[in-house]
Amino acid sequence: MALWSRRMRTPPAKAMMAFTESLSFDRALWRDDLDGSIAHVRGLEHTGVLDEADTAKLLAALDAVGAEFSSGRFEFVADDEDIHTAIERRVTELAGDAGAKLHTARSRNDQVATALRLYTRRRLGEVGNLALDLGETLRERAARAEGIMLPGYTHLQRAQPVALASQLLAHGWALARDVDRLLDTRRRLDVSPLGAGALAGSSLLLDPDWVAGELGFAGRFDNSLDAVADRDFVAETLFDLALLGVHLSRLGEEFVLFSTTEFGFYQLDDAWSTGSSMLPQKKNPDIAELARGKAGRLIGHLTGFLATLKGLPFAYNRDLQEDKEPLFDAFDQVTRALVAVRGLVDTVRFDEETMSTAAADPALYAVDLAEWLVERGMPFRRAHGLVGDLVRRSLEESKPLAELVLAEPALGRNAVPVVEPDLAGATRPKGAPAARGGVADQLERFAERLRADRARLDGTGRPTR
Ligand code: ARG
Repeated sequence: MALWSRRMRTPPAKAMMAFTESLSFDRALWRDDLDGSIAHVRGLEHTGVLDEADTAKLLAALDAVGAEFSSGRFEFVADDEDIHTAIERRVTELAGDAGAKLHTARSRNDQVATALRLYTRRRLGEVGNLALDLGETLRERAARAEGIMLPGYTHLQRAQPVALASQLLAHGWALARDVDRLLDTRRRLDVSPLGAGALAGSSLLLDPDWVAGELGFAGRFDNSLDAVADRDFVAETLFDLALLGVHLSRLGEEFVLFSTTEFGFYQLDDAWSTGSSMLPQKKNPDIAELARGKAGRLIGHLTGFLATLKGLPFAYNRDLQEDKEPLFDAFDQVTRALVAVRGLVDTVRFDEETMSTAAADPALYAVDLAEWLVERGMPFRRAHGLVGDLVRRSLEESKPLAELVLAEPALGRNAVPVVEPDLAGATRPKGAPAARGGVADQLERFAERLRADRARLDGTGRPTR
């Protein structure tokens, strides 16, 4: 029987329940719902609404329900509408009249908002740590790749040589910003809605500040309507996860590209690749492709949920139940992607020779040649034109760039080493960006950033209990 059945003359239609139920997915909130209920019960005792005996019975029943969930023994019944009503039903079975006091001065509206904030807070921490794990793996691979150069690309055309370490760390810095965003979202969501009731609190004495402290929230709601209607934290989290997914997608695309025979820069480890059911020779980069593909779904969760929120009247509406599936799925997908992509990055083999040969393309040093002229007093635009001429002629006349450099009066013998790749790599001027040669400094700064973010992730947002 539904908790509200006595208001109705007739039992609920099966199709109505089938359409409106959320138990099939919100059971993921069991732990958070129990945490919320425990704090609520303690709060009711704290203000004298519940006596010591009922409080003890309720806490014991909530504890027993927690044990049933932990061990997989909790049994749902047909009428359970969602995780919140299922838990209240079971607590009442276990604690009788005391159990029937659980929902005193509480609505599912503030209850569900509380549970979802607790859930989001803990999973943000989990995703943040996994993102830092991947960042750490990128850092390790970069540290071991020092000295390896490859062509850097703009417009997917060869642009300038870059250090492989820098190419890898570019993804690392994006992840570090993701972690910063997750922390930011976590700080803003750290507000307890408990005590807001259905929308306007309760006539019974509550202490929302005290309860917020019990749950380890930084503070309590200021407006009870806002408390039950606000899902900004869901939208923000979906954005954070979508952008993280977009970053993984860009990394994935790079691995797809660099592991083609055409590039030949990366070789994927067998254990982290798939084969073909028909073509015996194939080794496919499915992790990288799915990392790319999942971004579409994550973006869909964000835009879909924003559309759900748009135009909702205050305060709670059942539409808000649609917050859960996209949120849960986004966390699940990003969590799995981070673990798999980490394995991919950790085990990829770098084909140093192919990358170095590609990075030795003299055309990649064209701007260095122009800057060589700038250092000798030529205005940059003229130097750019002069070198552009040489590059075009080198292609048209099928002559090595070095030969034309030697023959050019403004350049000559002393400029040849600039386009002789080995030398050019070794003689980078002192002001050269880290991307070109030494990345020790960048590696150190990145390691420091990872350490700091790890500490920030571990530092806050834990229930005090
Ligand atoms: N399962 C619902 C949700 O997730 C619970 C809230 C239902 N509240 C209500 N007043 N009907 O939103």
